[in-house]
Formats: sequence, C-alpha cells, structure tokens
Amino acid sequence: MHNAALGADKRTLSGMRPTGPLHLGHYFGALKNWVEMQDTLQAFFFVADWHALTSEFEDTARIKEYVPELVKDWVASGLDPEKCVIFRQSAIKEHAELHLLLSMITPVSWLERCPTYKEQQQQITDKDLSNYGFLGYPVLMATDIIMYRPKWVPVGADQLPHLELTREIARRFNNLYGEYFPEPEARLTPAAKCPGLDGRKMSKSYHNYIGLNESMDEITPKVRGMLTDKARLRKTDPGDPDVCNLFPYHELLTDAATRAEIREGCTTATLGCVDCKKILLRNLAAFLEPLHERRARLDADPNAVRDILEAGNAKARAFAQGTMRDVRRLMHMD
Ligand code: TRP
Repeated sequence: MHNAALGADKRTLSGMRPTGPLHLGHYFGALKNWVEMQDTLQAFFFVADWHALTSEFEDTARIKEYVPELVKDWVASGLDPEKCVIFRQSAIKEHAELHLLLSMITPVSWLERCPTYKEQQQQITDKDLSNYGFLGYPVLMATDIIMYRPKWVPVGADQLPHLELTREIARRFNNLYGEYFPEPEARLTPAAKCPGLDGRKMSKSYHNYIGLNESMDEITPKVRGMLTDKARLRKTDPGDPDVCNLFPYHELLTDAATRAEIREGCTTATLGCVDCKKILLRNLAAFLEPLHERRARLDADPNAVRDILEAGNAKARAFAQGTMRDVRRLMHMD
C-alpha cells in the first residue's frame, strides 16, 4: 500500500492556527521543540487556516493576513524549509475529503463530550460558536494528523483530548475498513515555563507577551515594568528568585553560571532588580538577534513565503494524495 510503508515512528506533524504574531511563549512552548525535531524526523508543519475559520469565520481577511506572518515567525525561529515540510492546510484539498469521510464514522456524542468543546462554548462569549464546523474541530484535526500517518504529534497539554479523539477515530477506521492508520501519540512539550510579563500564562489576549518580532525598543519598557519579588521593596532587602516573575526568563535565556550569580546576588541583596533586568535584556537581545536577521531576510524578499509554501504544499499534497488513494480503496470509494 502506498504510504503504508513503515517509518511512521520517524514522522511528526503539528500545526498552529494563524491568529496573530507569535511570542516567547510559543517559542519555548512549541517551536523550540519543532526546530529540534526537524533534524531527526520527517517533519510536517502546517498553517491550520481552516481551523482558524471554525471560530473566526466573521473576519476571514485577518486569517489571510496572518498566514504569511506565521510562516515568517516559524522560519525566523529556525524551521528550515529544506529540512521540514511547511504547508498550508487549505491548499491541500485532500484534507476536506478525508474530513468528510471521517465525519461519517465519528459519533456526534464523542464531539459533544470533548472537554475543549464544552469549555470554549461556555467561556468564549463574544463569538458565536454554535456552528457545525466548530463541533467538528476535532474531526478536522484528526484528519490533519492521520493524513500524514505520523507517530509523534508535538502539542501542548490543552490538545490532549483532541489527540485522544484522533486515536479513537483512527481505531474506528481501522476496525471498519482494515488496519491502515497508526495511532499517533502526543509528544508533550515540556510545560512551558515561560510565564507572561505579569506571571499569568503568556497570551496575546492578556497583553503580557514579548513578541518574537518585537524590537528591543518595544521590549525594553515591557521588561523594565515587570514586577519582580513583590516583597522586595528596596535593593537592600533580600529577594526570592522563586517567587519572582523575571527569574523564569533567566532560566530560559541566561547561562547556568550567571544564573547562579543572580540567585546569590538577589538573595543576599547585592544585586538589584534594575541590574538583573539589564542582564536579561542583554540576553534577550542576543537570543532575538538571529531571529530578527532571518526575519529581515524574509521581509526583503517578496516571494520568499510564497516559494516556501508552494514547495511545501507540493510535498504535502503528494503525500496526502497517496493516503487518499489507499483510503478510497479501503472504503470502496475508488
Ligand atoms: N488545534 C491546534 C491548536 O489549536 C492546531 C491544530 C490543528 C493542530 N490541527 C492540528 C495541532 C494537527 C497538531 C496537529 O493549537
């Protein structure tokens, strides 16, 4: 069978919805992991623009705007189109066909009891989420995944219910039509230890983020304004890095030796928060420099994103066409 050749354990796939510029939380929570995977696995990363539509269908122009932005943020972060396949979901029409076929074998009750469905319907009150497509979100996600028959799907813990449903749908297909889809497993991204500037989860909607494409001129006042250890009122008071909002960033961006010095200086009241922030700003600038350089190269070439997506779409499509030939045959739809 076409794609049934072994090697699923060497394959990985993940996607993001194009809903806004990426920030440090995305980098340390997902992208860093993706960049590492592209070296050892056959990796597919895609822009989930149809998924964005399930909740943003009233403002589709915005989605279109964010598609190239997302690709640029990825490549700036180190995804290399020579090493991995970067594609756009809506360019691969096979996803629509497989989604339809899988929708036939997916009980509505599985979707209605999906925790993300219930939660978002209750919590997101400024959008109309009573649409059929939103209920079917996990079927579309299962489609994206099993189309490429990967073993590993790097996602955050919030996506685990969707992965579970994906396995159930794959199993159902295999039982009905013959063993074909491997059951994919989540590769959990180590809990993102990149809190927002205010200590909550870093998020666009909380306005507490550092964007990957922000300049140091934009970032500096954000860092200067961060709360540190609230109990440390004066520089002469000893501080506690373990309750400080800033210190987790040192864990991500500062080398171990300097970090030990910071801890020592903070707890003995010899290093003040202003100087501690200066160290962090220096390290942030060094971390972002290569990202911004890659980003500038992409911005300077008006065809760059188009070329990346055209090449990636072609590779993804070829793979998807192989899967669909097998699926149609197994379902007697050929
Ligand atoms: N649901 C994912 C999110 O919101 C995006 C996504 C869509 C995805 N299809 C996927 C992630 C397939 C991994 C695999 O983040």
